[in-house]
Amino acid sequence: MSEAARGRFITFEGLDGSGKTTQLRRLAASLAADGHSVVTTRQPGGTALGDRIRGVVLDSRTEVAVGRIAPRAEMALMFADRAQVIAEVIEPALAAGQIVLCDRWTDSTEAYQGGGRGLGADVVLEMHRAVCGTLWPELTILLLPDLEASLRRARRRNDRHKKHAGTDENRFEAETDSFFARIHAQYYAIAEREPQRVALIESDAGIEEIEWTVRDVVRARLGL
Ligand code: TYD
Repeated sequence: MSEAARGRFITFEGLDGSGKTTQLRRLAASLAADGHSVVTTRQPGGTALGDRIRGVVLDSRTEVAVGRIAPRAEMALMFADRAQVIAEVIEPALAAGQIVLCDRWTDSTEAYQGGGRGLGADVVLEMHRAVCGTLWPELTILLLPDLEASLRRARRRNDRHKKHAGTDENRFEAETDSFFARIHAQYYAIAEREPQRVALIESDAGIEEIEWTVRDVVRARLGL
């Protein structure tokens, strides 16, 4: 039996409320309909360990219980999650020739911890090398609509989540607008630095229209 060709790795990035999760699901459905074998995952939380890490870092009650999380601890938890999802999900899927779609990746750490928390990009990229080696996506879809629109959507959604689930994923959403503005700026910096890998979609267009744009980008850049 011949060895399967290595799979393809695509990530989605953007601010909370940018619609990236919806777009990831739609792309997954479209690729599957075209006959591809697709695996979807997310960060933080693509594994059982990752779900626990997610519970710690995203719940606004964590800091009530344990005190302030140091930015470098937050960064390291994101990379602990990443190491686990690489070992459990991403590497096996790529080795089996599947297409992996991941909701957030190291660009999120660079934007949120590097930009938002002020750690800077270098320490994040250094930690990436230590934990993930040379593993980077071939293509990153970066959805970056207008900052105000993104914030409004994220806050509405979080209120809904709180009402229904009794838990919250509020730690990041509770941050100030300047925190999100720094994240926005860092995402732009990433897109400018790596135009080959990162496809920046700035449009605030409707879900369908963005879906077609994403599909076109994937076809044009990866031939899928
Ligand atoms: P996610 O579930 O994708 O949130 P949303 O659906 O709101 O976009 O991500 C959860 C949060 O975790 C999000 O606010 C960004 C944050 N995050 C980081 O700060 N650093 C990271 O490395 C990752 C992966 C996520």
